[in-house]
Amino acid sequence: MSLEESRRLVAEHNIRHIAYIMDGNGRWAKKRGLPREIGHIAGKDAFDRVVTYTVKTGVRFVTLYAFSTENWKRSQREVNALMRLFLALMRNGKKDLDKRDIRLVFLGDKSAFKPSMVKRMEELEEYSKDHTFVMNVALNYGGRAEILHAVNTLLEKGEKNVTEEQFSSCLYSALSPDPDVIVRTAGEQRLSNFLLWQAAYSEFYFTDKYWPDMGEQDVDDIILAISKRERRFGGVPGEGAGKGNDK
Ligand code: FPP
Repeated sequence: MSLEESRRLVAEHNIRHIAYIMDGNGRWAKKRGLPREIGHIAGKDAFDRVVTYTVKTGVRFVTLYAFSTENWKRSQREVNALMRLFLALMRNGKKDLDKRDIRLVFLGDKSAFKPSMVKRMEELEEYSKDHTFVMNVALNYGGRAEILHAVNTLLEKGEKNVTEEQFSSCLYSALSPDPDVIVRTAGEQRLSNFLLWQAAYSEFYFTDKYWPDMGEQDVDDIILAISKRERRFGGVPGEGAGKGNDK
């Protein structure tokens, strides 16, 4: 399928948000007899390819699960390698975000990172805030922690009775509509604490490919597959417009 065809499908089916669980970097490296860190470096290239192409198709919001609250349990060496990649992402930040017209948003608890890194993260979020496309990078992110963060924010405000909209507005992802599709690579079929609240009506797309092997053709395949699914949001086809989410 071509970019033109994907652009047409994205517009026709109103695909606004694709979320990716980037899995399989370690296995990709192991298969080649390489250290896991090299898998993450290849994963960073795939991250650039996939985000660039996803927004080219006209999908306005893209979310990537880069580091979970549980990933700190990995070896110091691997955690350091991942931190170096996140820093590299931020080093070229401004030029890169300008070029692709992307607004960078971090989802997760920033307080676990070094103050200099937090400063850079916030600087880039602020710098890119008027850009058209939104790239949410989930770093030190956990879905349950995000829900508790929202609950505590509401309690601090003294709220007693909240609506779904109020609740959603207290999530890290408040700027983005719920994902139309959550993609997971490397053959696993679970959410792993990702976007638990937001996934209520998301489609799931699983592929056996390892994340570093993902590219433009895979994004086309995802868009085509989602376009063929009938999304009912709990309703009956032909009776009403469905739930949607107009953010
Ligand atoms: C899961 O694969 C992947 C991660 C925990 C890290 C994802 C990070 C990147 C793709 C690096 C670049 C990202 C940014 C935002 C700069 P795994 O290591 O769990 O793979 P395995 O299950 O095969 O061991």
